[in-house]
Amino acid sequence: MTEKANIGVVGLAVMGSNLARNLASREGNRVAIYNRSYDKTKTVTENFPEADFIASETIDDFVESLQSPKTAIIMVQAGAGTDAVIDQLAERFSPGDIIVDGGNALFTDTIRREKELAAKGINFVGAGISGGEEGALNGPSIMPGGSVEAYETLGPILESIAAVAEGEPCVTHIGSDGAGHFVKMIHNGIEYADMQLIAEAYDILRQAGMQPKEISRVFREWNQGELESYLIEITAEVLDQVDTNTGKPLVDVILDQAGSKGTGVWTVKNALDLGVPVSGIAEAVFARSLSAQAEQRAARPKLADHSSDWKIDRTELIDKVRKALFASKIIAYSQGFDAIQAGAKEFDWQINLGEVAKIWRAGCIIRARFLNRITDAYRAQPDLQALLYAEYFQEAIADSLPAWREVVAGAAMAGIPAPAFSSSLSYYDGLRAERLPAALVQGQRDFFGAHTYKRVDKPGSFHTLWSGDRSEIQTD
Ligand code: 6PG
Repeated sequence: MTEKANIGVVGLAVMGSNLARNLASREGNRVAIYNRSYDKTKTVTENFPEADFIASETIDDFVESLQSPKTAIIMVQAGAGTDAVIDQLAERFSPGDIIVDGGNALFTDTIRREKELAAKGINFVGAGISGGEEGALNGPSIMPGGSVEAYETLGPILESIAAVAEGEPCVTHIGSDGAGHFVKMIHNGIEYADMQLIAEAYDILRQAGMQPKEISRVFREWNQGELESYLIEITAEVLDQVDTNTGKPLVDVILDQAGSKGTGVWTVKNALDLGVPVSGIAEAVFARSLSAQAEQRAARPKLADHSSDWKIDRTELIDKVRKALFASKIIAYSQGFDAIQAGAKEFDWQINLGEVAKIWRAGCIIRARFLNRITDAYRAQPDLQALLYAEYFQEAIADSLPAWREVVAGAAMAGIPAPAFSSSLSYYDGLRAERLPAALVQGQRDFFGAHTYKRVDKPGSFHTLWSGDRSEIQTD
């Protein structure tokens, strides 16, 4: 009898083939591979003989090459393609077998698929995988959902390929059905906010007259401190890059219209449904949308400016922008963790926020030194009401606050758009406020729609007879 594989990978584009190679490189794994077009399978097999893949030309042979419980990771584009592959596998799999979707699927699709497959006794696991091509090959951060039973088989395999932070693999069973993809979605939302904040920091320094190479050096320096992260590191690289065609800084010849594949939009849409203010993430999504309004931007008339020079010493400016970036970043993470908590409540998932922070410490796109602080915060206080209430973060914000305010005000006066910086500060001030003008909004709602309001001094709901004698009546 020929040896069978303990794990299979379907879909051999870069992410899939890198993940398959990663799996094959770990002791104890034998990897089966399958791709819709066999040419790709052949190329991958020929290019990486050391992986000793069991390559199949047909889906039947692929399924046959897996040992029981049969476990296959699907790495195809999210959407209809995923459903097609799931159907093919499900027809051939038996109860107890495991199908893993490693793409960026919408968590509600994952919930639906899990339910459909559970009816057939097949385990379906939606697993968020972060770290891009490099992470897939050398160690990603992995966020699997699905059943506890499936994780018993799958867990050790995923642990064998995940990134490692302080000796611990960056993978944990997030929760049932769509929990893994939900958390991956929020990871991406935070990624959007982090990228936008970095871009705003760059823009403020650039508009103060600094050149990309100088700013690259600033980011390199920031990467030695509390801001140390993968995104700061790659930003320094991007800003240092010279265009090989024109000799100009590459950032100056890249079209300023940001693309997206949808996970940031999903984060915001779901946060809106859950009633969680993820304003930093939302501004990051909107900033990409504004940038991509090519025709509208091109058609702009000469719009009034009325900005004034922001007179500030350069060294001081750099330090203040660093602080504003750090404080705003804390807000983005705090909002992201709030969204995870709200999602867990809504969908009945037992998500351990401290574990989530732990598996984001390495491998994923938002990996950062600061994740250790988040891990510590949840370890010390698992029921933390908001991440920014943790002592370390309160102090970090307090220390950054004067600079943060100055940067937001300075950017506004200088006419530099800094939507994520400023909305994060507004969120912070909103959370801090003893009284919010929401009281007035309630009064307005009661005026035009008799929507009623509650009072600060007694229970019940009330309505003022606005078009009558303006007396107040209690409605319940
Ligand atoms: C990751 C990334 C990855 C992908 C983003 C890009 O965690 O490895 O988030 O999933 O690069 O989805 O998203 P946009 O194309 O929407 O920016």
